Amino acid sequence: MAVLTLHYPVHTLDGKEILPSGTVLSDTVIEEVAARGKEIRSPALPAMEFGTVRRDLLALTGRGVYRTIFGDEAEYRGLIRLMEMPWLPLPVLKSIGYYKWNDPYTYHHILLVFALSSHLARNLLDGYEEILQEAAAGPFHDFGKICVPLEILTKTTALRKSERKALEHHALAGFILLSYYLKDPGVLAARIARDHHERRDGSGYPRGVLLSSRFVEIVAACDVYDALISPRPYRESTYDSRTALDVITAMAEEGKIGWDVVQVLVSHHRKGKPHPEECKVSFEKRGQPPEGNLYGISLDEDGPA
Ligand SMILES: [Fe+2]
Ligand SMILES: [Fe+2]
Repeated sequence: MAVLTLHYPVHTLDGKEILPSGTVLSDTVIEEVAARGKEIRSPALPAMEFGTVRRDLLALTGRGVYRTIFGDEAEYRGLIRLMEMPWLPLPVLKSIGYYKWNDPYTYHHILLVFALSSHLARNLLDGYEEILQEAAAGPFHDFGKICVPLEILTKTTALRKSERKALEHHALAGFILLSYYLKDPGVLAARIARDHHERRDGSGYPRGVLLSSRFVEIVAACDVYDALISPRPYRESTYDSRTALDVITAMAEEGKIGWDVVQVLVSHHRKGKPHPEECKVSFEKRGQPPEGNLYGISLDEDGPA
C-alpha cells in the first residue's frame, strides 16, 4: 500500500497545527500525535447532551422519509438510549457547534448519519452496544471537515478537481484529529473518519484499501444515502428515497458495499418493517436523479466556476 502524504495541514478548531502539509503518515507519526493528545485534559460529555443536538435530532428524524425509517416508537426509544451512551471530549463536541453555525447542511448530515448508522447497526451487528459506544460514529465521521475551507463545504456549484482534493482531505484529517483527542489511533471513531469513503472493492479513498469493517461499511452506506436525500447547497432538490435506494443498490451490485446493508435499509422503508431477509430488493432502477444534480461531479480546473 502506498505511503500517504498529507496535501494540506491538519489543525484543531482553534487553529493549533497538529501536522503540517507534506507530512508522510507513518505509524510512528500517528503514534506521536496520539502521545501528544495524552497531554491534554478536557472535560467529556455525551454527544446527545451537547448544545441542541437532542432537540435537533428528534426534529430531523421526524421529517420526510426519516419519519418512516424511524417510525417504530419502541425501537426509536431504544435507539435514543443507545445514542446517549458515547461520551466525548469537549473540543471534539465543539465541532458540532461549528457546523451548526457555519455549515448547517453538514450539521444535519452528521446527526442523521449518527442516527441511521446506529439504527442499522442494531440489525446487522452482534455486540452493537459496545461497538456504538466506541464508534461515536455519526457525529464524527466528517470531523475532519473542520480542516476544509468553508467556501468549499458550502459551494453552490460543482467543485473543481483541486477543490475535491481539498474536500477529500477530511478523511485523513479526521483520523489524525480523533487519534489526537481520543489518544489512540486504533479507536473505532478514528478509523471510521479515515475509512468511511473506502469501499469493499478498494475503489474508495484515501487509501484505496478493501473495506473490511462491517460498521464502517454501514456508516459508508448511510453517509451516501443521507447525502442523496437531504438538501445540499449545490442542488435545488434532493433525490427521492426510491432513487437513493437505486444508487445504494447499484453500489452493492458493483461490490462496493454488502447486500445485507442494502436489505436492512430497504426494510426500514417498508410499512410494517418486514424482516430484512424477507425483504426483496428491487434491481429495477426506476428513480430519476434531480435535475441539475452535481453529486460527485468535479470540473477540470479551466471549467466554468
Ligand atoms: Fe465524509
Ligand atoms: Fe458524511
